[in-house]
Amino acid sequence: MEFELSVKKMTLREQISFLTGKDFWHTAALDRLGIPPLLLSDGPTGLRKMKGFGNITAICYPSAAAIASSWDKEGTKAFGEKLGDECRAERVSVLLGPGVNIKRSPLCGRNFEYYSEDPFLAGTLAANYINGVQSKGVGTSMKHFAANSTEDFRFKADSIVDERALREIYLRGFEIAVRHAQPWTIMMAYNKINGKYCTENSWLMTDVLRGEWGFQGLTVSDWTATADRVRGLKAGLDLEMPGAGYYTVQKVAKAYRAGEVSAEEIETGARRVLNLVDKAAEGHLSEAAPAWDKEADHAYAVELAKKCPVLLKNDNQLLPFSKDDKIAIIGARAKKPLIKGGGSSSVNAYKVDTPYNAFEFRGLDLSYADGYDLTMLDEVKPTLLEEAAEVAKAADKVLLFVSCSDMDVQEGFDHVNMDLPVAMNALVEKVADVNKNVAVILSTGSAVILPWADKVGAILQTYLLGEGFGAALPSLVLGEVSPSGKLAETYPKSMRDLACAKDLKVDNDLNLKYRESIFVGYRYFDTAEKEVAYPFGFGLSYSKFAYSDLKVVRTADEKVAVCFNITNAGDMKADEIAQVYVGAKFPSKVYRARKELKEFARVSLEPGETAKVELTLDKCAFEYFSVDLDKWVIEPGKYSIMVGASSRDIRLTEDIDISSADDLSKEADYADFAPHYFKANIAEVSDVEFCNVLGYDLDEYLPDRTDSRLTAEDAIADAVASKTGRKINGYIDMVNSIPGVPDAYKKLVTESVKTMPLNRMVQVSRGIFSDNMAAGLVTLLNDGSPMDMVKLFALGVPDTLKAVGMPALQKRAAKSTEKKNR
Ligand code: BGC
Repeated sequence: MEFELSVKKMTLREQISFLTGKDFWHTAALDRLGIPPLLLSDGPTGLRKMKGFGNITAICYPSAAAIASSWDKEGTKAFGEKLGDECRAERVSVLLGPGVNIKRSPLCGRNFEYYSEDPFLAGTLAANYINGVQSKGVGTSMKHFAANSTEDFRFKADSIVDERALREIYLRGFEIAVRHAQPWTIMMAYNKINGKYCTENSWLMTDVLRGEWGFQGLTVSDWTATADRVRGLKAGLDLEMPGAGYYTVQKVAKAYRAGEVSAEEIETGARRVLNLVDKAAEGHLSEAAPAWDKEADHAYAVELAKKCPVLLKNDNQLLPFSKDDKIAIIGARAKKPLIKGGGSSSVNAYKVDTPYNAFEFRGLDLSYADGYDLTMLDEVKPTLLEEAAEVAKAADKVLLFVSCSDMDVQEGFDHVNMDLPVAMNALVEKVADVNKNVAVILSTGSAVILPWADKVGAILQTYLLGEGFGAALPSLVLGEVSPSGKLAETYPKSMRDLACAKDLKVDNDLNLKYRESIFVGYRYFDTAEKEVAYPFGFGLSYSKFAYSDLKVVRTADEKVAVCFNITNAGDMKADEIAQVYVGAKFPSKVYRARKELKEFARVSLEPGETAKVELTLDKCAFEYFSVDLDKWVIEPGKYSIMVGASSRDIRLTEDIDISSADDLSKEADYADFAPHYFKANIAEVSDVEFCNVLGYDLDEYLPDRTDSRLTAEDAIADAVASKTGRKINGYIDMVNSIPGVPDAYKKLVTESVKTMPLNRMVQVSRGIFSDNMAAGLVTLLNDGSPMDMVKLFALGVPDTLKAVGMPALQKRAAKSTEKKNR
């Protein structure tokens, strides 16, 4: 409380200074009152704490897509605890994670950093992660709130999504985590939702997050996501990051003087930042930083990595391999594994054991071929293929390393399609032609298309397993540990099969239409009865499991207890992940998914052992969000409780009657105006039908195009219609020809510069590139006169000088006042 109380001792200007960061990674500080700055660092795969132009060495853990495949509640909490300890050692007060966004489409560039297509799984794991980190007195920043499903044009993309889909799918995971873990902070996403930037959305930040869910912490903008600091503050955005210093302070002060923002609004934001300082001070800053045993944490990363991989195929028990097999290791990824994604996840890994070395260390009979050139994955190199085929021919079994390209595990832009690089696909085909015992070790960040799946014997999807990948792999391949992960996302047979196939990318107005409403992932495939390559929740094991004795009973507190047994019927110790789905068995006035995940458990069993699994469903398990009644409601009737090994492998079912006190007589009859949704026939949903569900007319919503001139809210990429705009875009593209810099990084930089609205450039430069200069650039991009631009630039110079000089002057003034007061 100490720091929070000091808000009253601050001048209004000092309070305002706390509404923006001190710099790129710190919150504001105030020496006069002894308020320290807090360090915020990425997250979520490990610590990406910047040092100079690089990052400190830290443990690189499995990415969220891999962690989600473990379906391990306790394991995820323990992982959070480990990260919390590491943050303490590095004086990081807030870890920027976890990423809870729903995988709407496999093309989203950041899917590797997100958990699942299912909000219950995502929210439950996020809550455990957060509880783990925060149990160590360190905060988290659950991100990116909300409906942040695309990286293309991420600064301005507008998610056009109906409220039911928002509530049930895109907000639900965040809600679960807020209710069960109270993250210290929540990061507001770049995008808009139905026309409003998340950072300016009072419905989202204030009504729902605080009012309905009881969020107690601080809202922080994603880095450069504040379009307008004053509007943001009024809507409930507490902290702007990175800090814009004097630039923001004078903007908010001006708005205060104009009566646009109240002293109370300013104090509230500042108080929440100070409350965060209190938590950090009590949590860890008051103690000396503990030592960090990186060797021990690396060993932990290896163990964690063993829990995540998903065995997608294992014909004739090709895996595990025997130690006596003559094994060909093929694929350059065996020596240069893909263990992490870029952007916030680019942890500077402490120790990366390569799979090849790890197998060699086991003293096996190995041979090796590169198979492809990692620097030219778009090109098939016949000599490398031939060499690989020769090596494969001479071996008993082949371990073939296949991955997506670095470009497909990066923030800032989306994937073009779901395909693996051509060189990888060609290699699998070639090797599978000469050896029938091929086990593919797959490393991708999201669901992909595997055109050769029928031709190989086994496929182990490892996702991005972090630095423990290499060391963990031999245990799985040699059968010391059984793979036990299950998919947290559906693998479609083709991209055309996706519910969002028509709306994979933003349109010309940067709108991303969530036409499919609630039908995301298995909710769509199972309701539409569409074949898939690998269903949600699917994963094989070296053992096998029998499910029995399902009991579904209403408890005294109006919950539903679900009990069943799982027996390890194989001859090896292994873990099984059981899933509980709920589906309504009656015709409804609203469209519903055939089944929805409502609970799950991971159990570890010795051969022959039986575990009794006891899970509880609370009333949320039967609710849907009624837009017309503006609340969560339960329809009375018979519900199926389905216990499965995957969404398509239901082993036990029992029905239960659920009563309801909700008056549903005023619920709209969706069959009248949204008929195609009832069988999840999304391909037939017209714009009109979508608008019926959306509740507003998209035609009216489209921006007025009568004035096509750009403004400071536009970006350089928006200016391709102008001569100068094209030129500037061309200059930016020249970055791509710099040698020695990874392509994925170059693309992140060029896309960010091109698509960042000009007013955010002002913010990120702390006003040094001033508003007038941005206006000058806008003039140029509108093909205006260069003279006008020069004039505006000149007009901007005083602001630039102020932005540079004022903070130093203010610091000096504060120091001398302090001296005088002493
Ligand atoms: C990302 C966030 C990240 C932040 C700080 C943003 O570009 O979207 O996930 O935490 O940068 O690195």
